[in-house]
Amino acid sequence: MPPVQFHALDTLSVVELAAQARAGLLREAATVSPKFFYDALGSRLFEAITELDEYGLMRAEATIFSSFGAVMAGEARARIGRPFDLVDLGAGDCAKAARLLALLQPARYLALDISIEHMRPALQRMQHEHPGLPMVGIGTDFSDRLQLPRTLCPGPALVFYPGSSIGNFDPQAAQRLLAQARELAAGGALLIGVDLVKDKAQLQAAYDDALGVTAAFNLNLLRHLNRLIGSDFDPRQWRHHARYDEGAGRIEMHLLARAALVVRWPGGERRFAAGEGIHTENSYKWTLPDFAELLRGAGWRRAQSWCDAAEGFAVVLAS
Ligand code: AVI
Repeated sequence: MPPVQFHALDTLSVVELAAQARAGLLREAATVSPKFFYDALGSRLFEAITELDEYGLMRAEATIFSSFGAVMAGEARARIGRPFDLVDLGAGDCAKAARLLALLQPARYLALDISIEHMRPALQRMQHEHPGLPMVGIGTDFSDRLQLPRTLCPGPALVFYPGSSIGNFDPQAAQRLLAQARELAAGGALLIGVDLVKDKAQLQAAYDDALGVTAAFNLNLLRHLNRLIGSDFDPRQWRHHARYDEGAGRIEMHLLARAALVVRWPGGERRFAAGEGIHTENSYKWTLPDFAELLRGAGWRRAQSWCDAAEGFAVVLAS
């Protein structure tokens, strides 16, 4: 069994990440990228979110894969028509790809994640279970640009992007990422999970659950910032706010100051009026026709989709 290869690509240094976070806080409307949710506790809180009654995304997606995974895999293999690499974007614990390996039968498995450390144990476990399948772990922050050296991924590839993480990009950035995924696939295909527009109250509850887990997930970003930039945020002075903007088709998450306050860090500070916020995340919800249009704009021509019974989530295969 070959050892898993690991490559650290363009991951930003802590200094660069801290500079990004400070710049976001100093904008007129303070904005911090959702990537700052995912420190160790944030990743665990996100896992807890996926188990909430109100947050059905991952369950819907899992149902679609268990009902239609074999058909999807057959269609993907037929469309690509030759050996391909499975490229898993934001692989994390690699669990979703692991369930599809037997159906997809890729030539290699390439797992991309912002943190090599996060995926290392899962990838090593997977290598034990699939000793004949070459596996590569790649540490990269593809939120600004998705690109791999051709030596690492010559193609063709099936780019796998589950979990509706595409929803965390605004439409323009989403189209850019999908176009970069097409370059990366090099004549292969894309298998992507998308959360769909649905009842407003249901959407809002998914991002403002009764147990307050999503509130904790949002507030934890302040603890992360304190460690990263040395700021003095007190999470008790902030509250979670989530609302669905029907016009924009997106959930917005904010942290709102409970009272007028000043946040300080070495070399800087930011004043917040009572009720003023930090915008922490957008989560776009798509209709299938609009998502097909987005794919077309990114150069993907043939799209086929599978939905759950409630038609709240779709998995789309594009080539
Ligand atoms: C990771 N991403 C798809 C989640 C979402 O639904 O946008 C992150 C999340 N934010 C709040 N709850 C879950």
